[in-house]
Amino acid sequence: MSQDSICYLSGKYLPKSQATLPVEERGLLFAEGVYEVVRTYAGQLYEMQPHLDRLQRSLNKTGMTAPKDLDQLTAISEKLVAENNLPESLVYIQITRGAGPRTVRSYEGLVPNTLVVVYPTTTFDEAADMPSKTLALVPDIRWHMCDTKTIMLMPNIAAGNQATALGADDALMHRNKIVTEGTAANAFAIKNGELFTHPADNHILHGITRATVIRLARENGFTVNETALTTEQFLDADEVFLSGTTTHVTAVTKIDGQNVGAYTENCALADVYPIAQKLHEFFVSRIGSLIGSPQTA
Ligand code: PDD
Repeated sequence: MSQDSICYLSGKYLPKSQATLPVEERGLLFAEGVYEVVRTYAGQLYEMQPHLDRLQRSLNKTGMTAPKDLDQLTAISEKLVAENNLPESLVYIQITRGAGPRTVRSYEGLVPNTLVVVYPTTTFDEAADMPSKTLALVPDIRWHMCDTKTIMLMPNIAAGNQATALGADDALMHRNKIVTEGTAANAFAIKNGELFTHPADNHILHGITRATVIRLARENGFTVNETALTTEQFLDADEVFLSGTTTHVTAVTKIDGQNVGAYTENCALADVYPIAQKLHEFFVSRIGSLIGSPQTA
């Protein structure tokens, strides 16, 4: 794919270099916008319906007018994946409030904008090892509507930057020592064979992958507690992992420089993270079966 891939902007398919929005688009001025990120595997949109449902909830919660192409998002996304020849891709769907004079508070007459951009991503490999990351604990300074997927991501970006400065791959956010989630993923801890994750309330994004992991865990006999844990409890967990569209199931090997559970530098991750490893396997085999045939690199 060339750098100048074809995107979709409010009714038009055009190269990204030619797609422009007015300077008074409220998405640009005030971050008034909502979005979704959908993964494709072998050219197929994965879990599109739950993503569309969440997008609708985000529109409802922010009081944003639905764009007139809302019901065409699947067709638009499929067309972009095909036209850009990107069977393994991330589809970013963004709806912003529309353009209007900066001082006007009324939204009357504003026409929302829909932007869909497709980016290449790594080829799915069912046989690949579970990925891993290190995290640093960073205060969660976001607002109280984190269940709404808005484009207002400065706190997430700042948390990630803080983690990088601390020498970690990413941040594990906490509100007053209660772990909420990652910067772009949900967080799970495992203690004595049981899974714990923050309840799906207004302080986390209700991850599509989170819901899948919980379902797969329960179907396979694990106890899942949707109970918030403290930073101390995460540091004391046997296993910690992240879940997300771009993250899949990713083991967290260190928090604030401290090894999680039985993890050591030279260990085999699958041995010291047996439950996360199983969930990783359930998750990738689910994708493998959804795309018809298991793929290898
Ligand atoms: N992020 N929590 C946050 C803050 C997120 O931004 C995301 C997803 C998740 C996981 O949600 P899901 O399983 O539905 O992807 C949790 C996407 C990938 C992003 O913004 O890039």
